[in-house]
Amino acid sequence: MAAPASDRAGGAAGIRVAHGSPSRAVALRVEHLATPLGIDAARPRFSWQVADTRPGARQTAYRLLVATAPVLLHAGKADVWDSGVVPADSSVDVTYAGPALAPRRRYYWTVCLWDLGGAAAPCAAASWWETGLMGEAWRAVWIAASDAPLDTVAHLEREPAAGPGTVPLLRRGFVVHGSPVRARIYAAALGAYRLTVNGRSVGPGALVPDWTDYRYRLTYQTWDVTRLVRRGDNAIGALLGAGWFASRMGYSSRRYAYGPPPVRLLLELHVDYADGHEEVIPSDTAWRAAASPVLVSEIYDGEAYDARLEQPGWDRPGFDGRRWHGVVAAAAPAAALQSQDMPTVQPVAEVRARRRWSPAPGTYVFDLGQNIAGWARLVVRGPRGTAVRMRFAEVLGPDGRNVSQVNLRSAKATDTYVLRGGGPERFEPHFTYHGFRYVEVTGYPGVPGLPAVTGIVARTALSETGRLVTSDRALNRLWQNILWTQRANLYSVPTDCPQRDERMGWMGDAQVFWRTASYNMEMAAFGERWLADVRDGQTAAGCFPNYAPDFIGDRSCGAPGWADAGVVIPWTVWRHYGDTRVVAEHWAAMERYLAYIRDSNPDFLWRHGKQVQFGDWLPAGSTKSWGETNTDLIATAYWAYDLSLMAEMARAVGRDSSGAAYRRLFDRVRTAFDSAYVQADGRIGAAFVNPDSVRTTYTQTAYVLGLRFGLVPDSLRAPAAAHLVDDIAAHGWHLTTGFLGSAYVLPVLSDAGHDSVAFRLLAQRSFPSWLYEVDHGATTVWERWNGDHGDPGMNSYSHYAFGAVGEWLYRYLAGIDEDPGSTGFAAIVIRPRWTAGLDSVSAAYRSVRGTIASAWRRRRDGSVAVAVTIPANTTARVELPAAPASVIAAPGARLEGVREARSVYDIGAGVYRFVVGP
Ligand code: BGC
Repeated sequence: MAAPASDRAGGAAGIRVAHGSPSRAVALRVEHLATPLGIDAARPRFSWQVADTRPGARQTAYRLLVATAPVLLHAGKADVWDSGVVPADSSVDVTYAGPALAPRRRYYWTVCLWDLGGAAAPCAAASWWETGLMGEAWRAVWIAASDAPLDTVAHLEREPAAGPGTVPLLRRGFVVHGSPVRARIYAAALGAYRLTVNGRSVGPGALVPDWTDYRYRLTYQTWDVTRLVRRGDNAIGALLGAGWFASRMGYSSRRYAYGPPPVRLLLELHVDYADGHEEVIPSDTAWRAAASPVLVSEIYDGEAYDARLEQPGWDRPGFDGRRWHGVVAAAAPAAALQSQDMPTVQPVAEVRARRRWSPAPGTYVFDLGQNIAGWARLVVRGPRGTAVRMRFAEVLGPDGRNVSQVNLRSAKATDTYVLRGGGPERFEPHFTYHGFRYVEVTGYPGVPGLPAVTGIVARTALSETGRLVTSDRALNRLWQNILWTQRANLYSVPTDCPQRDERMGWMGDAQVFWRTASYNMEMAAFGERWLADVRDGQTAAGCFPNYAPDFIGDRSCGAPGWADAGVVIPWTVWRHYGDTRVVAEHWAAMERYLAYIRDSNPDFLWRHGKQVQFGDWLPAGSTKSWGETNTDLIATAYWAYDLSLMAEMARAVGRDSSGAAYRRLFDRVRTAFDSAYVQADGRIGAAFVNPDSVRTTYTQTAYVLGLRFGLVPDSLRAPAAAHLVDDIAAHGWHLTTGFLGSAYVLPVLSDAGHDSVAFRLLAQRSFPSWLYEVDHGATTVWERWNGDHGDPGMNSYSHYAFGAVGEWLYRYLAGIDEDPGSTGFAAIVIRPRWTAGLDSVSAAYRSVRGTIASAWRRRRDGSVAVAVTIPANTTARVELPAAPASVIAAPGARLEGVREARSVYDIGAGVYRFVVGP
């Protein structure tokens, strides 16, 4: 490697830039986030991408500088930390190693790179992150509205106060003496909050703080309010709602599952002045409280808002709050407060209503044309006191005209707005969300036009990183449906569904979908945060739970395929993002989990026995929700899978001897699996016990798990795959798989050389199949293959588990994959697949190292044109399904050899075009 032009003594200023060098660091991230505000990481991790369009471009060294002011960086000075010139190509998760960071401080950083020729590039445009409280003690106290009746509403007609009852307003005036240069709010709630300063909203954020197990963990947020405070009189206002803390949640419909009322707020406003002094306005008993116009607002049921109760100016200075009530100091929760280390839930897009009709006089139904999660904005004008009601639904009833909420179980999903009168009014609810495509409006004064209702898409605002377009419209719709379903289920935790009275962090759904999810969006920070919830849910015995966060305290052992998310997801985050810290943080919990399985299953077959099991949940064509695959077989397969992932992850955290031990244990479980479930002819199955009969079932899922998890002896892999194909054929080229089997069936078929069968299943349009849903108008992925299975309470139309086929679309169809020995797409594999009936596929994935693209297009002469884009600082292996003689290779691509009838080329960064002869 060329020696970098190092000049430590001269600081960054001493770095002389090679003239015209295009190599530069861009997309700077700290803890996976662009410019995070208020994070507590003591040793934050830095990542960047190398912008260099020269073929084969690589980074050979870097130097990272951290300073307290951007001017210092411009002058090449790092008064906090200078990594020195590090001769390495690292660009992902480079860990801070400077002195301890101060709380509430903005740090600026840049990184300077050296290219292959040893030339220094201009340093990156300075970026920053800001520390949070870093464990500093809060000066504020927790406050809640006092119990005194709140007279502003006492005389008005109200809905019976369901659950947490009044959603209070809290306010406090304060004076700013002098010119503030910086102002921050640090805030947390047991409940959910919306803040204003001088009447202007602080955000973006809705449904903050995130949902965690509030007994153990609670996030606080940092908001930059510098531009909202001003010299002189100011006011701060808070609206405090139920959130996940106080709303009824889950099957028990219990409110306050994490602790007793009241909902409460903790807040500090820090105002910094030019002369360096600081003033803190904390939540304390000087605040005042009143009832708000929000009569009730809960996650499942929706919101009732009476605009007649608005008190204009309540959150501005000069408001007369004498008739308001006092607040009380409330008990501080035992939970550890931690910084918000990922985007909050917030509105991210709007969807205009496409159609509107009136199924009955006074009733209007709006159709967004897309199933979303979020809420609706209502625009209305009419007499004071008019109550407009919106009911949200994913589907229409049997008449095709009226909305149907039959699949929401007990969730009311209804927002009511009472007009203040006298002008145009706009309403959006504050502390609820719905999964819906249709909105039924009643009580509207007059006839609402289409713009009266707009869909607001809200979710944890992770950025989207994937794109896939093919020549097949139905396939494109399937891909969009998968993405929309993901968008609908990121509500600070990965939820199973966004509409019914469930919306829980179900772990089986998440683990099968996580790889697809990680192509679609930047999932690393979200994964790290949710895995903390998973750890919080681990039992004393070591079991991971079925869902996280927990909220009923049942602490039962999670089922095979569900609890295993506690191992599969860290592995996926590590592989996709090169994130080793997630493995380190989760390692002890994973070890405890595997020790628990090992201790209770001495013969190396995992028998989960009478504890709750979901089998291969919701398979096509079975009358049983858990399917017909033997549950011990599923459990043992997952145990082995976990062990193989542990063996791999051990290398990420430098635990080679543990890795070897897990590998040995894997071998024993595999041997036990083979003798129990794999026949000499390659069939895989086991007794399936029904109440009335016992028979041996050889299900598609049994083959899929055995093959996918590497449990079948090499000599039997081809016969086992052939049995799988036979079974699919016997079902008329249909699947019988549920949540678990469906996730891997196409990858297993492709890996076994049966691409044509994979394509055939993907192209299948009759039930059950992915395109059956598309043909039946799905705009999101359904919970059940047929969308309707008798029990309407189990018909979610926005359930991502079967969307796990997205992984095959990215990794196999477009062929954007990674070498098994690499993480974070450092060593890329491009292995596209084509088939008759499909003319083109084009996909791109913005990885942590930059955008990877793969596209193929069939040409008139029958040849296939392939275009590949590889980001700087990575290498790739391109595998094309033809002999080298029929490939016109891109200049710069080096033929490495021929593997399994594929020509294999090595390439570096750049854009490469190949033509594969007919
Ligand atoms: C959820 C699932 C979940 C399952 C457990 C359902 O009610 O919606 O997606 O995985 O329960 O079997």
